[in-house]
Amino acid sequence: MTAECDRPILLTGASGTLGRLLVPLLASRYGSLLMTDIVEFPNALPPGVEFVRTDLSDGPTFLRLARRAGTIVHFAGIGTEQAFEAILAANIVGATHVFEAARQTGARVVFASTNHTIGFYPRGQALTMADPGRPDGFYGLSKLYGEMLGQLYFDKHGVESVHLRIGSCLARPTEPRHLSTWLSYGDLARLVHAGVDAAHPGVAAVWGVSANTRSWWHGGDAARIGYFPADNAEDFADSVRAPVEDPVAARYQGANFCAKGYTRPLEDLPRETGPSE
Ligand SMILES: NC(=O)c1ccc[n+]([C@@H]2O[C@H](COP(=O)([O-])OP(=O)(O)OC[C@H]3O[C@@H](n4cnc5c(N)ncnc54)[C@H](O)[C@@H]3O)[C@@H](O)[C@H]2O)c1
Repeated sequence: MTAECDRPILLTGASGTLGRLLVPLLASRYGSLLMTDIVEFPNALPPGVEFVRTDLSDGPTFLRLARRAGTIVHFAGIGTEQAFEAILAANIVGATHVFEAARQTGARVVFASTNHTIGFYPRGQALTMADPGRPDGFYGLSKLYGEMLGQLYFDKHGVESVHLRIGSCLARPTEPRHLSTWLSYGDLARLVHAGVDAAHPGVAAVWGVSANTRSWWHGGDAARIGYFPADNAEDFADSVRAPVEDPVAARYQGANFCAKGYTRPLEDLPRETGPSE
């Protein structure tokens, strides 16, 4: 059960890559779990887990489901750079329905945001949560919308939310960029548990990264909500291999998300300047 009430956690995006990792962890820690996705859950359901298929762009159906739950762990959505219309429905309309359901049911939201909110900062530049967003596409922009939605719903309605700016959540780092951006599976679990369990987070923003020696991302509310990462990408530094990347991807923190659909002349790159460069 959640820290705030005795209703089960509602996990959105349960059938996705990270959702499937979280299902057994949340079920065993909290005893029961309600979960949803637009596609069927592909694995056997652990004990105490119920799956209900919904499309987050259908607000009334999602609200009916949310009435049965406490904290909403919101991992559903489009996680790559795609056409605006697709991102609008899944990430912008979907997140709005999640926060509105949280308002109506008194739930907290633990929201999977992304490093692509700041993807157009150059690699190596140290950032804090105070740095302005610099999204690398409609996807990153939609997650900034979700973060701001959380702020609005707290200021106007008192809905608490914890925003996780997830880096590269992988079994292990495979390329040099990951030495800065890696989130281990163990630290993902620690991060989500902290978001669910934190007492009175208000609006909290946390970098979803492990304790990487080369991290570009600092500050935020990790310690305040009780997130203490245990893994470090540096342990894999000898085994990562540099991929072949185009010049845009290689320059920016958001990598290939920056390169997708990029139309500026490449001659601009070396003298490109931004708010914090
Ligand atoms: N995997 C990472 O390293 C990473 C990094 C940064 C952020 N994130 C964020 O974490 C979350 C989970 O990532 P993932 O890698 O598991 O992504 P994923 O694409 O594997 O899973 C997302 C799930 O959301 C579901 N979904 C999409 N549209 C929906 C809708 N309209 N209604 C209901 N469900 C819908 C999909 O069916 C899918 O199962 C995403 O929000 C993503 O943006 C992930």
